[in-house]
Amino acid sequence: MLILGLESTCDESAAALVEGPRKVLANVVKSQINSHEAYGGVVPEIASRLHLAYLPVALRECLQRSGKKLQDIDLIAVSNRPGLLGGLLVGSTLAKTLSYLLKKPLVCVDHLLGHVLAPDLVEDMHYPCIAGVFSGAHSNIYVGQNEQDWTLTTRTRDDAPGEAFDKVAKLLELGYPGGPAIQKFAEPGDEKAYALPLPCPTSLNGDFSFSGLKTAILYQLTGRQGKAAVPKNMWPDLAASFQFTVARGLGKRLLEEAKKHKCSHIYVGGGVAANSRLRQHMTTLSEKENLSVHFPPLQFCVDNGAMIARAGYSLYQAGIRSPLNEDVQCRSNWGKIKS
Ligand code: KG4
Ligand code: ZN
Repeated sequence: MLILGLESTCDESAAALVEGPRKVLANVVKSQINSHEAYGGVVPEIASRLHLAYLPVALRECLQRSGKKLQDIDLIAVSNRPGLLGGLLVGSTLAKTLSYLLKKPLVCVDHLLGHVLAPDLVEDMHYPCIAGVFSGAHSNIYVGQNEQDWTLTTRTRDDAPGEAFDKVAKLLELGYPGGPAIQKFAEPGDEKAYALPLPCPTSLNGDFSFSGLKTAILYQLTGRQGKAAVPKNMWPDLAASFQFTVARGLGKRLLEEAKKHKCSHIYVGGGVAANSRLRQHMTTLSEKENLSVHFPPLQFCVDNGAMIARAGYSLYQAGIRSPLNEDVQCRSNWGKIKS
């Protein structure tokens, strides 16, 4: 079954052709970063206009690279939530138009399910498992009993980790997006130089919170609370300490959830899962605890169409079909909520 996956929730216009469940024939991502950089973040109006320009190009490139024709497509999967409404409308209108013209089924996908199932593009996922989605807008942990049964156990009370990377990068004058910029800047830094507050709660039932960590960085940089401002030559130490603190916080919580739910496999997805220090830290931690941690390859961590196609395949197999009047939504509504 040939699946077209379309993704336009934020600032990546992406399309992919996947032979279900996981043979990726083409995966094209047109990043809009250059157009948003000057504003220090994503400008929704610019994003939707660029999706309009880039998505058809991404689709054409997928067809060229795979040697397939539009008529070969069996299923159209599109992310219709959560995200910026303008971009979502562009992607879902393209998907609905193709579904109508080609007379092929449409499946609307929650972007977060895409991130959760992204590791399955390269290997069979093991259940029960813990899946973390750490991106620019989310810090969610789910427990999965099987491909169709996921419960949301942890969220964030304020920022998401990617957002914290982006905001701290702004404070450190590193530009946008902050994650890759901090990762590079922190390379020569001493990650033990500054003790910073962990973003995870002390109780097992609480959610993440990144505001204390962000404020601590601000205070270090501006010399509040009776401390001297960190001199510029020590900013790499501060960046490395921030990055390590995020990795420790996410790692601690993932491990707690794995133990609580008796899962021996942990999957980590979303843009922040591309962070090399997080990947290294999680690997060391899980080896100590005798757990297996899995990260998708980098191209499937950041937003992409292949993960949407994979999630669309899963929903289709479960009997789900979306009507042509299915709406877009700015929030996620997928996954049972823990009771
Ligand atoms: O999943 P994603 O591509 O888009 C959303 O769904 O939000 O994640 C984007 C986020 C941005 O905040 C970006 O700074 C962060 O992922 N990110 C990283 C890295 N690469 C991207 N954060 C830390 N380290 C990285 N290497
Ligand atoms: Zn994402």
